[in-house]
Amino acid sequence: MPGIPIMPPQASTMAWRVDAVFFALSGLSLFFTLLVFTLVIYFAIKYRRKSENEVPEVIHGDNRLELAWTFIPLGLALAMFAWSGIEYINLNNPPANSMEIYVIGRQWMWKIIHPDGQEEINQLHVPLGRPVKLTMTSQDVIHDFFIPAFRVKADTVPGRYQTMWFEPTQVGEYHIFCAEYCGTQHSGMIGTIYVMEPSAYEQWLASGGRTQAQNAPQISPAQAGELQFATLGCAACHRPEGGGPAPSLVGVYNSDVKLEGGQTVKADDTYLRESILAPAAKIVAGYPNIMQSYQGRVSNEQLDQLLAYIKAQAPAAPSGSGR
Ligand code: CUA
Repeated sequence: MPGIPIMPPQASTMAWRVDAVFFALSGLSLFFTLLVFTLVIYFAIKYRRKSENEVPEVIHGDNRLELAWTFIPLGLALAMFAWSGIEYINLNNPPANSMEIYVIGRQWMWKIIHPDGQEEINQLHVPLGRPVKLTMTSQDVIHDFFIPAFRVKADTVPGRYQTMWFEPTQVGEYHIFCAEYCGTQHSGMIGTIYVMEPSAYEQWLASGGRTQAQNAPQISPAQAGELQFATLGCAACHRPEGGGPAPSLVGVYNSDVKLEGGQTVKADDTYLRESILAPAAKIVAGYPNIMQSYQGRVSNEQLDQLLAYIKAQAPAAPSGSGR
């Protein structure tokens, strides 16, 4: 059976430095734990009561011992504090030649914006051996951008910018996690960092950010819409099988929808579009008014894709097979 690694790979310049602090602290704790337990057991045996009427000697303490067990741990604790402090400052000071990348967290995806405007979703391509500074924020709730292999992690907070940096030292693919519980799809808020040789990275940039895998045949608008539906988290409420806090959208296109208040409307393009951009305008009977507006959160292109996906789920025209 292949062994499960204790730690993620060390793939950035900070990784071994953070690990060194971690192992030193763990080693120190282990050493003192063993020391205390060994002495407790040894003294318990050595100084145990040997007869019923034995009276122990009176001890008045030892100043040298008191000083030793006060100042040695104090020195060790201060040394650890100074060492961790230096690494903390390192972690918060991106080198001046860093490449700048923006990260936006939102329920439930990571949007990455490169300096030249190129965008990625849940993927980040970076060149090997170049410091990368991330400027991060959130569009909704607090998320946390975490790259275990680089040993970096920071909250993304709505309304403010947080920076973080790393310099990859190994070509490869590494996990991105959201490390702050942010709602039902929190566990799905994951991604991949691709560390590429500088030449491969240049090629990737020049090709408009397509890797070979992504060069695969173009997907249809409905398929793109399905992807949007998943990444935007729509399916959390609009469950295809129904029973969620919002109506299922399977077969909704061109059907008659009963609204709160008794009115009925036809679910055409205009209605669907309005329901995404201004959900509160028409509330479906029997459902709470809880959906947030996607005005400004989806582009026109994304909106078209979502509509294409919803239309694609319309029931097939009666085929005459009898049902
Ligand atoms: Cu975003 Cu958890």
